[in-house]
Amino acid sequence: MPRHFLTDFDFSADEIHKLFERTHWLKREQKARRPHRSLEGKTLGMVFEKSSTRTRVSFEVGMYQLGGHALNLTTQASQLGRGETYEDTARVLSRYVDGIMMRTFEQERIERLASASSVPVINGLSDLVHPCQILTDIFTVIEHQKDIRNQKVVYVGDGNNIAHSWIHAAMILEFELRIATPKGFEVHSSVLENVKKKNASHIFITNDPREAVRGATVINTDTWVSMGQEGAGEAEKKRVFQPYQVNVNLMALADKKAIVLHCLPAHRGEEITDDVMDGAQSRIFDQAENRLHVQKAILEKLMM
Ligand code: CP
Ligand code: NVA
Repeated sequence: MPRHFLTDFDFSADEIHKLFERTHWLKREQKARRPHRSLEGKTLGMVFEKSSTRTRVSFEVGMYQLGGHALNLTTQASQLGRGETYEDTARVLSRYVDGIMMRTFEQERIERLASASSVPVINGLSDLVHPCQILTDIFTVIEHQKDIRNQKVVYVGDGNNIAHSWIHAAMILEFELRIATPKGFEVHSSVLENVKKKNASHIFITNDPREAVRGATVINTDTWVSMGQEGAGEAEKKRVFQPYQVNVNLMALADKKAIVLHCLPAHRGEEITDDVMDGAQSRIFDQAENRLHVQKAILEKLMM
């Protein structure tokens, strides 16, 4: 059985810290333009059932920098779009490629693909979680704030895949996390149940964004409308979410040295204002760059 990275829980705290050490090294080597071709001759198949800019480009460029190659398959342009099963797709891809990255809707789809794959499968976002993103976010926090254990991390906005992954990461790495979502847009009940079952008292869930942000050292947000949720009710949603906008008023409640993160793409003027996004506390574009370095460490860990 190959080792997969399907959910946030697939790597232990110890593995995550080792992965970050390797990420630092890979980032340094890349910045110095020194070759580090640890995946020479290997191929990553990328299956996209949703759009992407960062995930697509960072995985493809990452494989290239590691001496390998990546190829892109979309639902429409592959036989997945005509009903070939995830299991058969995995069986076939496993005969050609050395690893698969998939972006999809229900988590079950990637679990099915992985169940029939004889090569490692990496989750590049599902409706439930975004594990590569959250490792990148934490790496970025450690780069800029020195550690994760002593931070007060806040996520303000929709109770979506990013919120879920932050909760899982806080459970694994045991840092203080506050999640503020509007009523009716809370995180998934299964994620909440897990927090309760594990008695994770360092994770605080509220509907009050101001209470959550007070004294925070890391502030995150994400789009109010995730991929696949577009359509009816968007206007009403934007009204309900207004108090959760990351703007200068909300930032004034945080620690003066707080940093701001956003996985992107951002909807400027909705979940985050231009002045915060482009301001001195924003680490958002460093965060986007770090997708490349962190994922190279993940690719090496699973495919070397
Ligand atoms: N953050 C992120 O996953 O971006 P893309 O949707 O552009 O891949
Ligand atoms: N929550 C967002 C994240 C995009 C990277 C979405 O699923 O669309």
